[in-house]
This record gives sequence, structure tokens and C-alpha cells, in this order.
Amino acid sequence: MIKDMNKILILGKQGQIAWELQMTLATLGTITVLGSQELDLANPEDIATKIRQIQPDIIVNAAAYTAVDKAEQEPELCQAINAIAPGILAELARESQALLVHYSTEYVFDGHKTSPYLETDPPQPLGVYGASKLAGEQAMIQVDCPHLILRTTWVYGNRGKNFLLTILRLAAERTELKIVADQFGAPTWSRSIAEATAQIIAQCARDRDIRGLYNLSAAGKTSWHGFASQIVDRYREAYPDRHLAVQNILAIPTSEYPTPAQRPAYSVLDNSKVLADFGVQLPDWKLSLAQSFASWEQI
Ligand SMILES: NC(=O)c1ccc[n+]([C@@H]2O[C@H](COP(=O)([O-])OP(=O)(O)OC[C@H]3O[C@@H](n4cnc5c(N)ncnc54)[C@H](OP(=O)(O)O)[C@@H]3O)[C@@H](O)[C@H]2O)c1
Repeated sequence: MIKDMNKILILGKQGQIAWELQMTLATLGTITVLGSQELDLANPEDIATKIRQIQPDIIVNAAAYTAVDKAEQEPELCQAINAIAPGILAELARESQALLVHYSTEYVFDGHKTSPYLETDPPQPLGVYGASKLAGEQAMIQVDCPHLILRTTWVYGNRGKNFLLTILRLAAERTELKIVADQFGAPTWSRSIAEATAQIIAQCARDRDIRGLYNLSAAGKTSWHGFASQIVDRYREAYPDRHLAVQNILAIPTSEYPTPAQRPAYSVLDNSKVLADFGVQLPDWKLSLAQSFASWEQI
């Protein structure tokens, strides 16, 4: 049994999901939020010292090494933050019977499937980032503390580095964009992930000895090209007074946009387990995109 849920520690402070969690988890307890300046996940001693000082009842780890391409050049740092740190957090959580909530990614898969990935599908990462995230999941499961691993995909929001903000910047500067049209996934708004996380954690008050791996992504699917087109259309609808220079958004194959890390061609996750166990279902990605624009006063 884990202890009363009154002290919640969020890791990742400035990150897309962590930022939203600071609002959605506020009603569930007393929040402490740490960024890399306050707790360095690449430093095992730092992790142990800070966690033992704070003594959280719930740790929500939304921090990660997320630079997918750069990871190919610095695998040790990526491994330390994404693979080793979750195992250390899990050991500390087991020590105090805290619940550890952690995010993972569809990059644990190779993308060769043509139907949505289940939690039980065998992982086969294509690059350093995906392999490190898979190793982090496995470390947590091996330690066997109370835990929830939430795999999500194609995250965007109004802060940090993400595809949506990149497209809006490029669309303001250029008349033509070339966007990959043969990779498929479900763009998922950071706020809907944070809201769903709060719903799930609230329910763990009833079943505190939980261990589980869950997919958690928006409903529907599109390509990066489809996402870019919707971003521009919905942005123009939401902000008719703001000018975007872009006139054409051309569909290109992945082969015309090579990256250091290979991406899965198919990233869609099957969300039926989180619906069955928690009654949680994220909206269709197009609806969330429109809602996200409506919620932003300034971009
Ligand atoms: N972004 C996506 O498309 C995507 C897709 C699937 C899954 N995910 C997963 O979802 C989770 C959250 O992703 P996100 O997009 O919200 O992340 P993000 O915006 O890239 O933020 C990551 C955060 O991790 C923190 N961090 C990095 N190195 C650290 C270190 N050594 N010690 C402590 N903190 C460190 C950073 O803190 P500072 O700002 O202080 O450096 C940053 O705020 C991650 O587990 C990620 O793998 C993301």
C-alpha cells in the first residue's frame, strides 16, 4: 500500500507535459516541481538526496532526454537520464512505497505494424532515444515499486520544442513547406495528457498498489503533413488577424528528409486498456488542436 497522496513531486519543470501537470495535479495534493537545475537526473546521488529530503508520496517523472537526433551523438547522457534514472527513482519509490508515474514513448517500437500498437506488442526501438526509454520502462518494472508507465506520442503544446511551434515559425517565414507524409501518428496535446494523468492518479487512491503500462495518446491518426496542414488551417481560423506567409504545404517522403535518428513509420497507439481500466479517453487530435489554439492567448 502506498501512503496518503498529499505530497506530489513533478520532475521536468519547464517541459511540455510537466508544465501542464503543475495545474492539473494541484487539486490532488501539495506540489513540488523540480527542473534539471534543482535535481539532475544524470546524477544518481543527487536523485537519492533530493527524493529522500522531499519524501514524496507520488513522483511524476515528466523529465527526460528528448532530443531524439542528438541522442545518437551522446548516448551515455541519454541513457543516464532515460534508462538509469527511472530505475533509481523506482528504487526510491519502493523504499518509501511512493507511487512512481512515468512517461514513455511510441519510439520503443519500430513502426512496422499497420494497426495501432498494443502495450503487449514486442518493442523494437530504432534509435538511441527509443532504446533508452525502453530500458527505463524495464528498469522500473524490474524494481517493482507501485508504478504507472504512460506511453504517449507526438506531443505538442504552447511551450518548449515541438512540431506545432516549428511549423508556425516556418509558416510565418516561408511561402512553401515540405513535410513528411509517410509517417503516421496521433498528435497529442500536452494538456490532455496532463488532465488524463490527474484522472488516473485520482483513481489510484482506490487501488494504490498499482503496477501498469498504458498507452495514452489522442484518438485518430494523421501524417506529419496532415498535422502541419491542420495547424496552419486551424491557426488561421483562430487568429484571422495574424499573417502566415505559407501558401503551399507539399507532401514529401521520409527519404527526402533524412534525420540522424530513424523514426517509426507508424506510431499509432491503441488506447483501449487505459479506457477499460480508468475510463480515460483522450479526444480526437483535431478537436484537441482546435481547443489548444482557443486556449492560447498568445503564441
Ligand atoms: N515530446 C514528445 O513528442 C514525446 C512523445 C512521446 C513521449 N514523450 C515523453 O514524455 C515525457 C515528457 O516529454 P516532454 O515533451 O514534455 O519533454 P520536454 O518538453 O522535452 O521536457 C523535458 C524536461 O526534462 C528535463 N530534463 C532534461 N534533462 C534533465 C536532467 N538531466 N535532469 C532533470 N531534468 C532534465 C528538462 O528540464 P530543463 O528544462 O530544466 O532542462 C525538460 O524540462 C518524456 O518522458 C518523453 O520521453 C514525449
